[in-house]
Amino acid sequence: MRTCLIAGNWKMHLTPAEGAALATTLRQRIGTRLNLDVVLCPPFVSLPAVADALRGSNLKLGAQNVFWADAGAYTGQISPTMLIAVGCEYVILGHSETRGRFGKPDPHLTEQHLRYFGENEATLNLKLRAVLPHGLKPILCVGETLQERTAGQTEAIIRQQLEGALQGIDADELYELVIAYEPVWAIGTGQVCDAEEANRVCGFIRQQLKDLYAPELGEQVRVLYGGSVTAANAQGLLHQPEIDGVLVGGASLNADEFVQITYCAP
Ligand code: 13P
Repeated sequence: MRTCLIAGNWKMHLTPAEGAALATTLRQRIGTRLNLDVVLCPPFVSLPAVADALRGSNLKLGAQNVFWADAGAYTGQISPTMLIAVGCEYVILGHSETRGRFGKPDPHLTEQHLRYFGENEATLNLKLRAVLPHGLKPILCVGETLQERTAGQTEAIIRQQLEGALQGIDADELYELVIAYEPVWAIGTGQVCDAEEANRVCGFIRQQLKDLYAPELGEQVRVLYGGSVTAANAQGLLHQPEIDGVLVGGASLNADEFVQITYCAP
């Protein structure tokens, strides 16, 4: 049985004090829930404050990114050991915003196709290899753009993203891996993917893991859906057999909304 996982990706929102306040509210309302993993992923600078607010509860802490070296001259980067030291159990990897597949150009940039942070399969592979030995659980995001979906490339893109990121990594290291299907066109657009279609693609992802590795791995790895999840649509998504949870962006910044989403867990 896979435990349902509901993660809030706060992206670049909330100061440490605001984050601690939200975490405290969530702790009071859902901090004793059993048989459900709830993970809060604040910005790096808020991790210690949110960790303090969550200590002793069932709520878990995650980061939004990581660098692959443990230490060194890497200005602006954060290492796996640093994340562990502040209490992180999870880390989001390969979000379309860090891959630079945001689906629309940044209006502040003149170069139309400038990629935000340029993460790709090769750097994701390095990051996975760096975090897994530390026991940090990766939430690896995959998903197609609208253009790719329209061209019928959804499966091919996801297969390429999975194969590239997981290349050379042994099955025994991957049992705590979480994959999030985040279609780029559904992120921050209010255009949620239809629950049955999200279920179909999550099933496809699971099948890829079975084919690449072993049926047992595919059965164990949790596959989440992310993209415009709200309290209004969470129920339909969370009751699909192939969807093991949701990765929530905007709606995770509102305590009532996020609590309601957790109540939809089967
Ligand atoms: P929204 O829920 O705001 O669409 O964001 C989804 C997301 O990117 C979660 O990682």
